[in-house]
Amino acid sequence: MFKIGSTIFPNRLVAAPMAGISDRAFRHIARLFGCSLVYSEMISAKGLVYGQEKSFSLSESGDFPGPVNVQIFGSDPRIMAQAAARLAGKPGVDLIDINMGCPTPKIVRNHEGAALLLDLPLCRSIIRQVVGAVSIPVTVKMRRGWEDGSETCLELAKIAEEEGAQAITLHPRSRMQFFSGKADWSLIKQVKEQVAIPVIGNGDIWTAGDAATMLEATGCDAVMIGRGSLGNPFLFREAVSLLEQGRIAEPPSLEEKIATALKHLEMVCALKGEYTGVREMRKHVAWYIRGLPGAARMRVMINQAVKVHEIKHILDNIRETG
Ligand SMILES: Cc1cc2nc3c(=O)[nH]c(=O)nc-3n(C[C@H](O)[C@H](O)[C@H](O)COP(=O)(O)O)c2cc1C
Repeated sequence: MFKIGSTIFPNRLVAAPMAGISDRAFRHIARLFGCSLVYSEMISAKGLVYGQEKSFSLSESGDFPGPVNVQIFGSDPRIMAQAAARLAGKPGVDLIDINMGCPTPKIVRNHEGAALLLDLPLCRSIIRQVVGAVSIPVTVKMRRGWEDGSETCLELAKIAEEEGAQAITLHPRSRMQFFSGKADWSLIKQVKEQVAIPVIGNGDIWTAGDAATMLEATGCDAVMIGRGSLGNPFLFREAVSLLEQGRIAEPPSLEEKIATALKHLEMVCALKGEYTGVREMRKHVAWYIRGLPGAARMRVMINQAVKVHEIKHILDNIRETG
């Protein structure tokens, strides 16, 4: 288990915030397979403050049980604080996370996401104002710095702690790296040694063994998994089993993969309607069937599907021929 503030999480597995992916259906599936803390997609603080419906809907969990860490991005401390305050009173918002790592040009052009790593006094001000605006725990997710080789995270972690953040997540790649090269886990260890608040390590966890290795090598409190969980929420179960029982759970059968993809499809369509749901699910279904015989051919068909029954038909075919 690990703790953020007074919230206790039953295990040390966390699902990453992923824009366009970690919606409530994805979060629910991640939780079903055992991860103990899930994050929303990143949400624009301006969108929340200026009342954009889409921004609020990204933060909602409906009937799905928590806890959820809702992530906001922005660069104006006042707007970030107002956004956090608007979220904090809502059901299903258990923690607020501040995005200090998004590398995409559209975001950094506005001095948001990873661009904040170039201005530590601004980071301090944002964290201070957000923490001051809410009574639920505030956390910060950061990259290592802007430039390759930079170690801004070491200083920012201390600032975050000083300003009252209750946990830090570090993805130790620079902004300039995007997703290239390797995450430098030694920085997670260094950050952990510098602060007393919990540190969540992130980056390049593809197997249950990777999760155990990161925990052991860095001393971090929990591990966050992003890309490794795409079409593979079973990784959470495998990692929990390895950490708690010392052995990796059985890999999913074909039947379980198909059943999980179908459940995911149904949830997304129930939430967003068939038109959007099927289009959004194309990538997820392709991930679920990755590596299966005939997957490449099936992917072409999936990308043309517009109705739920078409996707179901493709999945049934895979089940029958697999
Ligand atoms: C498609 C995609 C969307 C992402 N969106 C977000 C986001 O909204 N907020 C955020 O802090 N990180 C975001 N990330 C970064 C992940 O949370 C994570 O830090 C990164 O993928 C490294 O972890 P991994 O190696 O386990 O994938 C995103 C990553 C991907 C691949």
